[in-house]
Amino acid sequence: MHKKRVFSGVQPTGNLHLGNYLGAIKNFVNLQNKFECVYCIVDLHAITNRQDPKELKSNILETVASFIASGLNPEKNIIFNQASVSAHSELAWVFNCVARIGWMNRMTQFKEKAGANKENASVGLMVYPNLMAADILIYKATHVPVGEDQKQHLELTRDIAKKFNNDFNCENYFPIVEPLIPKEISRVMSLRDGKKKMSKSEESDQSRINLKDDKDLIDQKIKKAKTDNDLIPSEIIGLKNRPEATNLISIYASLNDLSIEKVLKEFKGKNFSTFKSKLSESVVEKISPVGNEINKLLKDQSYLNKILEKGSKKADLIAKNNLKEIYDIIGLRKFS
Ligand code: TYM
Repeated sequence: MHKKRVFSGVQPTGNLHLGNYLGAIKNFVNLQNKFECVYCIVDLHAITNRQDPKELKSNILETVASFIASGLNPEKNIIFNQASVSAHSELAWVFNCVARIGWMNRMTQFKEKAGANKENASVGLMVYPNLMAADILIYKATHVPVGEDQKQHLELTRDIAKKFNNDFNCENYFPIVEPLIPKEISRVMSLRDGKKKMSKSEESDQSRINLKDDKDLIDQKIKKAKTDNDLIPSEIIGLKNRPEATNLISIYASLNDLSIEKVLKEFKGKNFSTFKSKLSESVVEKISPVGNEINKLLKDQSYLNKILEKGSKKADLIAKNNLKEIYDIIGLRKFS
C-alpha cells in the first residue's frame, strides 16, 4: 500500500482564470486538510512554448500568489516551482525511455497545441506528458486533482507506472494514480463558445473570467456571455445540446457547491438575463476576494519567494531520495 499523497501542477503562463480555479485550485484547497499535498508551479512545462524571461519570472510569483489567495496554506502544503527540483527532469528522461512513441502520438493535447504545423513544434511539447508523469511519480503521489482536460495525461502516467513496474520487475513500486476531477464542472467552457474550453491562450479576453478581473469587468463579461433564447429547464435533459446554457448553470453550481439539479430547481422557467445577474453576484462574491488578495500579495515579493524557497527544499528532499531508489532499480550509479 502506498501512503496517500496529493500532487498537482499549474503552468505559470499569466492570469489564472475561472477554469483553473473551479477545475483544479478549489479542489487543492479542499484536499489540504485531508492529505499530504504537494503543489507545483510547473515552469519547465511553460517553456515548451516560447516565454519572455522577465514575464515568466513574474508569472511564477503570481501563480504562488494565486495559490495562497485561493486559500492554500503554505505551512501545511509543499508549494514550490519545478525548476528548483532537478529530479523532475532526471526522471522525465527515464520516462522518455519507458514511454513509447505511439503513446505520445495519441495525445490529443499535443495535436491541439502543435496545430497544423506539427513539424515545427518543440520536441519538449511532444514529450511534455512524460515530464508530467515524472512530476507526479517522483513523489510517488497517489491522487492528482485536475480538470478534465488533463485526464488523458494521467492515463499515460498510469501506463508509464505500470510499464516501469513491469519492465524492472518491481511490482507496485510506482503507485497507479487516481485522478480527482470535479463532478459538477469537469471542464469550464469559454463564455463565447460553449464547445471550447476556457483557456489562457484564447485570444479574446471576453471568453474567460480571470481571477484578477474586477467587479465591473466580471459583470460585463457575464452579461455578454453567449446563451440561447430558451428558458432554464427544470430537468438536466432540458440542457441537452445547449452547451452555453450548461456551462453557465454548471459554473453557478460549482461556485455555490450545489448540484446541477438543485440549481435547475431554483431557476426553472426563468430567462437567462435573470439568471446571469445571480451568476454575476456569485462570481464576484467568490472570485473578487481572491483577485484582491493576489494584488495585495504581489506587493510582497520576498514573502512569495520565501514560500517557494522553503517548499523547494522540502520537495527536493523527497524527490532526491526517490530518484536514488529509482536509479538503483534501473542499474544506474549516482555518486553525487
Ligand atoms: P494548466 O496549467 O493548463 O491548468 C492548471 C489546472 O487547471 C485546469 N484547467 C481547467 N479545468 C477546468 N476547465 C478549464 N477550462 C480548465 N483550464 C485549465 C487543468 O486541468 C489543470 O488541472 N499539464 C498541466 C500542468 C501539470 C500537471 C502536472 C498537473 C504539469 N504537471 C502534474 C497535474 C499533475 C497543465 O498544463 O495545466
